[in-house]
Amino acid sequence: MLRNGPSEFGLVTRLIHWAMMLLVIGQLALGLRIADMEPGLANLWLYGLHKTIGFGILALILLRIGWHILSPPPPPLGPRNAAFWAARAAHWAIYALLIAIPLTGWAGSSATGIDVMIADRWTVPPLVEASEEAEAFWFRLHDILTKLLMALVTIHMLGAFKREMEGDGTLTRMIRGRAR
Ligand code: HEM
Repeated sequence: MLRNGPSEFGLVTRLIHWAMMLLVIGQLALGLRIADMEPGLANLWLYGLHKTIGFGILALILLRIGWHILSPPPPPLGPRNAAFWAARAAHWAIYALLIAIPLTGWAGSSATGIDVMIADRWTVPPLVEASEEAEAFWFRLHDILTKLLMALVTIHMLGAFKREMEGDGTLTRMIRGRAR
């Protein structure tokens, strides 16, 4: 089934979820790598790759939200206790960060005064005017939000493994659609 059910994840949601997992983990690693580099001709393509993947993640999260309006995902499994609400809050925070992080990267890159491009082909409009202060501010925010995302993604994964080990099928449901 493509659509989500009252307690099942449909194929569209599952594909977007796992594609995003791969992209976000790769993007976090690539981001840490480029933040440690002196930008130059030899590594400019890595910056380009990071920006292109970042716009891809932004498009996917917007697509995911749009899809979830059309086909609402099932709520987390289990009783409505503190763990349930913590899982919900973590999901919302991850969504918000996956929108805010690309926007802060886009703003920081705009502030350098260099054209921001997708796949070396399409130039996107600058979000802010070029200035060194703006560049430092937006990249600092980009850095802080990515650290927050790393912490939340870790908690999210540990939570999923814990629930799966307790036997409620939380992880199985995101792989196969149904909890059992
Ligand atoms: C969800 C999407 C994104 C994630 C997870 C992400 C992640 C990261 C991370 C972890 C860093 C290293 C931060 C640090 O240690 O200072 C970084 C740096 C960077 N990001 Fe992103 N990023 C994303 C989207 C974008 C986008 C859309 C752009 C630009 C259009 C961008 C431009 C940059 C640049 C230029 C740097 C290097 C900053 C510096 O040299 O200080 N990022 N990113």
